[in-house]
Amino acid sequence: MTIHHLRAAGTSLVLDARGTAVPAVVHWGRDLGPTSAADLETLADAQVPAVPPSSVDVPLRSRLVPLPADGWSGRPGLRGWRPDGERAAAYVGLQHRGSRSDVAGSVTVHLGDDAAGLEVEVTLTLGLSGVLESRTRVTNVGTSSYVLDGVVATLPLPARAGEILDLSGRWSGERRPQRVPVRDGAWTRETRHGRPGHDAPTVTVVGVPGFSFRAGEVWAVHHAWSGDTSVHVEHQPTGHTVVGAGELWGPGEVVLAPGESYDSPRTLAAWSDNGMDGTSECFHAWTRSRPRRTSRPRPVTLNTWEAVYFDHDLARLTALADVAADVGVERFVLDDGWFRGRVDDTRALGDWQVDPDRWPDGLGPLVEHVRARGMGFGLWVEPEMVNLDSDLARAHPEWVLQGAAHREPLAWRHQHVLDLAQPGAYATVRDAMVALLETYPVEYLKWDQNRDVLDGPSRPQVLATRRLMDELTDRFPGLEIESCSSGGARVDLDVLDRTDRVWASDTNDPLERQAVQRWTGLLVPPELVGTHVGDARAHTTGRSQSLGFRLLTAVFGHSGIEADITALSEDDRRALRRWTALVRDLRPLVATGVTVRADRTEESWVHGIVAPDRTEAIYAVVSRTASVDAMPAPACLPGLDPGRRYRVERVDLGPVALAVQDAPPPWWDQGAVELAGAVLESVGLPLPCLAPEQGVLLRVRRV
Ligand code: DGJ
Repeated sequence: MTIHHLRAAGTSLVLDARGTAVPAVVHWGRDLGPTSAADLETLADAQVPAVPPSSVDVPLRSRLVPLPADGWSGRPGLRGWRPDGERAAAYVGLQHRGSRSDVAGSVTVHLGDDAAGLEVEVTLTLGLSGVLESRTRVTNVGTSSYVLDGVVATLPLPARAGEILDLSGRWSGERRPQRVPVRDGAWTRETRHGRPGHDAPTVTVVGVPGFSFRAGEVWAVHHAWSGDTSVHVEHQPTGHTVVGAGELWGPGEVVLAPGESYDSPRTLAAWSDNGMDGTSECFHAWTRSRPRRTSRPRPVTLNTWEAVYFDHDLARLTALADVAADVGVERFVLDDGWFRGRVDDTRALGDWQVDPDRWPDGLGPLVEHVRARGMGFGLWVEPEMVNLDSDLARAHPEWVLQGAAHREPLAWRHQHVLDLAQPGAYATVRDAMVALLETYPVEYLKWDQNRDVLDGPSRPQVLATRRLMDELTDRFPGLEIESCSSGGARVDLDVLDRTDRVWASDTNDPLERQAVQRWTGLLVPPELVGTHVGDARAHTTGRSQSLGFRLLTAVFGHSGIEADITALSEDDRRALRRWTALVRDLRPLVATGVTVRADRTEESWVHGIVAPDRTEAIYAVVSRTASVDAMPAPACLPGLDPGRRYRVERVDLGPVALAVQDAPPPWWDQGAVELAGAVLESVGLPLPCLAPEQGVLLRVRRV
């Protein structure tokens, strides 16, 4: 029984695990430096709060598992009951039974309640990334079934954490930020889509009011789970503020038989006193350190969706592949429309055999054509779904996930959920996927999921999907998977355990995409976020954009193209060719660098990626709307080494429209300038008056 102090990457966590009460989190935030056992005792004792009038007669401390039994009247860390009516079980009072920490930066706390028949184990890990990982295991040690209603990882926040920022959104407008003040009560975000959803909070940031990308003390939390989730920030008039996250279940969804355990997903938390750039740096480092299956540089991709949609024709697609290879594409991904009867989005999901009408010789001729031109081949699938108009649903209507027994489930994009928890359904889809992967050398699956799971619990679907991904990647080593979900409705660090990139949104409009990428980057590092150069006129918004702005936007991620490039002029093809070469040149930086975003007005953004050793960087200067002031503020380039000199060069991605009669600053015409990192960060570079919806790529190298 001791006080644990975890330290990593500038962050400390102190857990007072003395005595038999549930350990109290004394501190999560700034690194407190090396501490002796005596220091920790003094610290923990000094943090015991006063007992206010009309309250429990003991100091109310922030317990690792907050429970009413310990005086906590906010959302409890654990809820459940026994259907056999044993009342004591519903009222859990946990006792601390021991805890141990290890050299890897973990502490495991054992708790139990004999009367309730429960054992609880909470493991906190503070790794080198600075991300604090929390996992909870609940075991039913009683003699009857235990119904779990909620397991919530809960962390305390200091009183100065008074403002919340999280994300919401819609299809093609994923991850839009919103801010609210912390007030008495709970700010709760529940996702009940059976997937995180287009409106997922993704990251919940709580900070000192006014925090920004570069400034302010912030605490950020992500619940790494692809199913229904609840995240809340709660302030109690007692003076306690907490952030909590856990799975969200329907009544009776998780029942533990005697001896059975529940293992929670990981809740990931990061602290920074350098604003949200600080916490995203932690999340990126954590994500990059996960045991991933591929270390291969991200191949420049062409996706056929917006190029041909369902119009699958070998001649058309081989022509597209020829141009793709010519401009430097390295992976060709055949999207939706290749399987039996799939002529539009109303039918055929589930019939995972190649369509004999449009592909009389199978996919072989296209695959060979693509590979003969030095590109890898990728294929779109949607294994979790079924159309009622499919041979699969006709043969097995009982495999369609059915909610209320007396009525047909609602269709969503004409499709239904295939109940993968049923062994027959699972095996059928698995076998179809295996057959495909055995027949064709597919290096990449674009794994789509185009509807909410509303007709049954999400948990069995999530677990079955994980299992299917595991089976396929075990069997086909090197197979990469993209997590797509009608654009970006499944972007989380649970699915990224098994996948190699996320499709952040269906919008390829660079103006929209700038925003989607900016906020997706709060959690996911850029090389794992797909980004495509779309048509001049964006299919999702109808807005027309210059090629330069589209190319610029698609540098900051796993780069690709999604347009009918057979129709391009020779000039545009040349520009694409130069761009794919640039992407190849920059991808080591994109895959390892630190994402930075300057604090600036919303009308123009500056964001970049800085090499870990700060020898090089790239920045985008993005003019989103017409500038309010006649002259835009200089572009400050954050994250460089203040004491070193850098050469800044403007990268030519094509013509950039300037405001009428603008005389750009002299350095602009010279194309390059040399300045100290401190000057670039604090004074910045004067810019020309960019017209709205224009962008400039700056390449920065240490002199
Ligand atoms: C939704 C995806 O987000 C798109 O990219 C595309 O793959 C379509 N589904 C295909 O149906």
